[in-house]
Amino acid sequence: MKFFSANIDSLRKLYINQLQMMLSAEQQITDALPKMIDKATDTQLKQAFHSHLQETEQHVTRLEQILRQTTGDTDTVRCKVLSALVTEAEDMIKDAKDDSVRDVALIAGAQRVEHYEIASYGALRQFARILGETAQAQTLDQTIKEEGHADHLLTEISDRINPYAEKGAERAA
Ligand SMILES: [Fe+2]
Ligand SMILES: [Fe+2]
Repeated sequence: MKFFSANIDSLRKLYINQLQMMLSAEQQITDALPKMIDKATDTQLKQAFHSHLQETEQHVTRLEQILRQTTGDTDTVRCKVLSALVTEAEDMIKDAKDDSVRDVALIAGAQRVEHYEIASYGALRQFARILGETAQAQTLDQTIKEEGHADHLLTEISDRINPYAEKGAERAA
């Protein structure tokens, strides 16, 4: 792992640094998703997390391929945002005392991660285009589409579960 002290004086260096940071982010997501599958109660939500775990493993592989092409190795730069998002999500889930409330908390946490990924990959795709790395831009675009799809699916599931979460306390009473 490298720390953010590299001398970044060109767009190519920034591109590489951010690819390394996203690799760290995706690795952290790969660690977090199995715990989220475990905590989820709703079957469709469990399934959605499970398919996105498989996609996330692909995201790791794609970044490793791009980095190997570009730098010859798969070094990472620790993504601090992801560890903060995971800690916050864990706090939300820990305090949820109702299955539906816990499921919507899981979705809220997961969607923050998807939006972070979409924003980060959007910048990376643009850097790749400017640097003439057309094939890499297409690979990153494929990942962005999968993040977007995961986000939309979570919105649909959340729309279905939210009314149950709203009545959580009433049901328990
Ligand atoms: Fe991803
Ligand atoms: Fe994702």
